[in-house]
Amino acid sequence: MKRVLFVCLGNICRSPTAHGVFEQLATERGVSVRVDSCGTGGWHAGEPPDARATAAAATRGYDLSPLRARQLASQDFDHFDYILAMDEQNLRDVEALRPADYAGHVGLFLDYTGQSGAEVPDPYYGGAAGFDRVLDLIEAASEGLLAELRDAADSSR
Ligand code: 4NP
Repeated sequence: MKRVLFVCLGNICRSPTAHGVFEQLATERGVSVRVDSCGTGGWHAGEPPDARATAAAATRGYDLSPLRARQLASQDFDHFDYILAMDEQNLRDVEALRPADYAGHVGLFLDYTGQSGAEVPDPYYGGAAGFDRVLDLIEAASEGLLAELRDAADSSR
């Protein structure tokens, strides 16, 4: 079973949205994965997702309410096959902690939309529309990643 970690800055807006959406879509499609999320910063550790993120996700049928924020740790590289960042700064911060012998994949989550270099914009200081946009991007990237994981599972049979 592949293990996927989503990373943003605070772990209260974008990466918990990716966590909830990707986990649910994987379950619906019968793709077996372990999913988690974290932030490069620790200011919100222990907190539930931002209420705006939880509300926007709920309108599309995703439940973020059980999630709690935590900070990225060097041990995460021992436990995840994919470490996927929401924006370029998150990616640089992940790369700065990456052990030289890490054999998994570190990259931008939106690469799975086929748009190389695209970022999930930080919705924290904006309005509700920003959270809807985050969901659109994350749903699209989730479909791409699920397709890759399904293909990998098929070719190893
Ligand atoms: P996130 O959004 O990285 O998508 O969780 C943010 C949450 C909190 C802050 C910044 C971005 N903050 O500055 O506290």
